[in-house]
Parts: sequence; structure tokens; C-alpha cells
Amino acid sequence: MSQQFDVLVIGGGPGGYVAAIRAAQLGFKVACCESNPYADPKGQPRLGGTCLNVGCIPSKALLHTSHMFEEAGHAFADQGITVGAPKIDVAKMLARKATIVTQLTQGIAGLFKKNKVTFLAGHGSFVGQGAAGWQVQVGKETVEAKQVIIATGSTARHLPGVPVCNEIVCDNIGALEIGVVPKKLAVIGAGVIGLEMGSVWRRLGAEVTVLEAMPDFLAAADQDIAKEAQKIFTKQGLSFNFGVKIGDIKKTAKGVSINYTDKDGKAQKLDADRLVVSIGRIPNTQGLGADKVGLKLNERGMVEVDGHCKTNLPGVWAIGDVVRGPMLAHKAMEEGVAVAELMAGQAGHISFDFIPWVIYTDPEIAWVGKTEQQLKAEGVAYKAGKIPFLANGRALGAGNAQGFVKMLADAKTDRILGVHIIGPNASELIGECVVAMEFGAASEDLARICHGHPTLSEVVHEAALACDKRPLHF
Ligand code: FAD
Ligand code: NAI
Repeated sequence: MSQQFDVLVIGGGPGGYVAAIRAAQLGFKVACCESNPYADPKGQPRLGGTCLNVGCIPSKALLHTSHMFEEAGHAFADQGITVGAPKIDVAKMLARKATIVTQLTQGIAGLFKKNKVTFLAGHGSFVGQGAAGWQVQVGKETVEAKQVIIATGSTARHLPGVPVCNEIVCDNIGALEIGVVPKKLAVIGAGVIGLEMGSVWRRLGAEVTVLEAMPDFLAAADQDIAKEAQKIFTKQGLSFNFGVKIGDIKKTAKGVSINYTDKDGKAQKLDADRLVVSIGRIPNTQGLGADKVGLKLNERGMVEVDGHCKTNLPGVWAIGDVVRGPMLAHKAMEEGVAVAELMAGQAGHISFDFIPWVIYTDPEIAWVGKTEQQLKAEGVAYKAGKIPFLANGRALGAGNAQGFVKMLADAKTDRILGVHIIGPNASELIGECVVAMEFGAASEDLARICHGHPTLSEVVHEAALACDKRPLHF
């Protein structure tokens, strides 16, 4: 007889593994299947999905090392520290990153044991519906589950006709494994991965050229932030070309040659040692057996869900990158928890309006809520408070006072509608703003709350004061 479960989670990324743990905590008999090709020391597919294996975590490890390298080379001297020209041991940097990934992915296997989640190694594919629930083939076995959570995530989108070998032409997987600092690195797509991976290799000495199809930079961000970011990143040495149309891409004896037309329609050619293609991601629904059970996908191949992650099939849910909404690990985890709680009859809830975005460049970029251009388009009357980090003692002391905090609040009710930060530790500073917005805070609430001194959070405090035109230190 096939193995039977209350809940089967397909995919062990941040959406899937969190959903599995929460469902097990709530008393369900849970299994999670995973089929990725990254083997753990026992030869099993590794848990953690894109995020832990080839996404959030390894990219942040490389961003940290390359930041240290740049600080040693350029910033130490400003503070009277002489260390000589730093050298990078790329192999060691990659090995450190791999150790962190192994530690975390094995940690999830440990959490599964602790919470009694059964791990099934293998690709999950719907085959039908039986008396005991949904039948899903996992590897060679068919298992049955009363409820199924699809958490199969996403994969890098590639350019048509441009095969990714992850040696010369890389997607996110190869971009995290480049074994020598390229002299010239080309990046297609000035989005989140392009900026983060472009920053890593630029800091380590590569000449980085970014080719972007859109005429504007970071269209989803507040345009004030985007303008400041473009100015800073260009000064750091990233070279941007907007409004391009990519043509033929050929491998050459030395690397790769990219033909494109620039924003004026002129034919251009870019030669590079390596190319990173970072033009967005596509949902993993191929081979899921959607057609076997009538699971509804949209025209982009995503699983169709409602606001509670319910699909068109009873007892089948879908979360994370494989459904609508931002492709972010914390959004996937929130959906995982909410679905497990809904299955248990609880009031699982996801605050889609308050999901923070963070880009881990230097300075970091982070935001939550509406941008100024969105408020204008929606005809919402708002007021803005904007304070630069230059006015903050802690930022100056740390030698990193670039950027600003911009808070947007409703002109009538004073409720905070959005906060946009470019600056040091923006990733951590945004947390306070998310909490405030979840609690429906007004800018005055934040303005009246005592912030530690000297901290970077004082800039958030001042931005709240500035909404009422009464900043104290600017
Ligand atoms: P995934 O993490 O993609 O996991 C899905 C898993 O399901 C995979 O392991 C896959 O092998 C498995 N799977 C697929 N189909 C099947 C099947 N049929 N059977 C069994 N298993 C299957 N987000 C952030 O919030 N912060 C960041 O800093 C960040 N950095 C990133 C950096 C990079 C380079 C990349 C590529 C992404 C980054 N992301 C970041 C995005 C983040 O990784 C994803 O949003 C997140 O991993 C989505 O989680 P998920 O569980 O939906 O899917
Ligand atoms: P992205 O959507 O962030 O950026 C893709 C960029 O490529 C866009 O600017 C787009 O206009 C451009 N583009 C698309 N087609 C193109 C073409 N043919 N030629 C030139 N440019 C083209 O996608 P990216 O960087 O691949 O990242 C994927 C997703 O992974 C992100 O959207 C995000 O959800 C997640 N991610 C999150 C991170 C974080 O939270 N810090 C870090 C990295 C990735």
C-alpha cells in the first residue's frame, strides 16, 4: 500500500519547508518531497530550495566577502588603518559560502526530524485522486495525501536561443560559482540579481557592464531611490546601458560576444569573459502533472490561487514563487505558515501590502508600502518626510553616510503609506517601518517613539518628524 499522509508538500524551499514544519506543529502527518540536483553528504537532494542553495544565502555570503575586500582596499585608509593592497582567494571565498549553505540546508533536515516531517527524495507529480486523497508520484513511489501544498518555486528565465552553460554564460547558479575574477563581466538585466551579483564581481575587480531592456532603472522602486541608486552605483564603477535590445550572443575563444542595439537604435557589440543573464524567473510547473488532475495554471505557467493560496482543486494549495506576487523568500514563508494554519481551521493571514523588499547592494535599498509614483497614479494626497544619512552621527562614524530615508504618509489621516530607504543597514531599518505599518501607525506615532542614540534608526525617526515639517537634526 502506498504511504499516506495528511499533507504532502511538493518542494522543500522556504515556502515548502516552512509550510511542512508549521503543518506538523499543528498535528498533521506531513511529508515533503524535493528533487533538486544539489546533493547533501548522503547523496540526497538538499532542502532549502533556491533560497538556501543558489539564491539568498550564497549571494549574501559573497556580498559580505566582497564588501570586506572593498573596505580593506578603499575604506580602511580613511580611518588611518594601513593594510596594503588586499588579495582575494576566490576558491576560499566560494568554499566559505559552500560551508554556510551546507550548514543551513542540513539544519533544515534536522528541523524536519525534530518536527517529525517525513522527507521524500524525488520529483513530485500529480497522477490522480483516490479514496485517501490526492495521488502524487514521488520518484518511483506513489504517495497519497488528503491535502497537497505546491511549493515548487522558480528557475531563472533564459534568453531564447542562448544556452546557459554556467561556465561562460551563467544564470544565478553559475554567477555564484565563478572561480576567477573575470576581467570583463557582462550582465543582462539591471534587476535585483544583476545589481547584487554585478556588485560582488565589481568589488573584486571586474569591469562590469549591465545591459537593461527598460528605459528606466528599478521601475518597481520609488523613483527618488532609483535615481540615487543609479548615481551611486555608476560612481562605484558599474556601467549601465538602458533601453537596449539584445541580439546575437556568441561564445568566443576568450569568452562571449554580445550584439545589441542601444537606446538610439545603433548596433553595438560587447565582449566579455563571462555573462550573467538575470532577466527574471519562471515558475516550476513543468512535470508537475497539472494536466492529469486539472490544476489551473495561468498564461505564464503559474499556479492560479486566490488570496488564501487555494487552487481550483479542493485540498490543493500553492505558495511562494510558483504563484502570483513578489518572488521573495519571506513572502513564500508567510504563505506557507498561513496555508498550514488555514488547513487547521485557523485564520491564516498574509499581509500582502506590507511585504518588505530589500536589495543587498552597498548602500542597501529597502522599502515597504506604496511608492510616490503609485500614490500619484492613485490620486492619493500624501505628505513626505525625507532625511539624509549625512545628518546622522552613527552613519558618519561608520564611514557610510550615503542615501536617505523617505517616509510617505496620508495627507489627511497621517497614516504611513510607504517607507523607502537607501542607506547603511536599510535591510534592518525597514523592520521597524513594517511593524509600524502593520499596526496602522501614523507618522506621528513613530515621531513620538524614543529611538536609541546614536543609531541609524534615528534617521527613520527624523523622517517621521519631517512628515510634519519638524525634523530636529536637519
Ligand atoms: P524555491 O526556493 O525555488 O524552492 C522550490 C523547491 O522545489 C526547489 O528546491 C525545487 O528543486 C523543488 N521542486 C520543484 N519542482 C519540484 C517537484 N515537482 N517535486 C519536488 N521538488 C520540486 N529572496 C529574498 O527574499 N531575499 C533575498 O535576498 C533573495 N536573494 C536571491 C538571490 C538569488 C540569486 C535568487 C535566484 C533568488 C533570491 N531570492 C531572494 C528569491 C528567493 O530565493 C525565492 O523567492 C524563494 O526561494 C522562493 O521560495 P519557494 O519555496 O517558493 O521556491
Ligand atoms: P528582476 O525581475 O529583478 O530583474 C530583471 C531585469 O531584467 C528587469 O530590469 C528587466 O527589465 C530586465 N530584462 C528582462 N528581459 C530583458 C532582456 N531581454 N534584455 C535586457 N533586460 C531584460 O529579475 P532577476 O534579477 O533575475 O531576479 C529574479 C527575482 O529573484 C527578483 O525579481 C526577486 O524576486 C528575486 N531576488 C530577490 C533578491 C532580494 O530580495 N534581495 C535578490 C535576488 C533575486
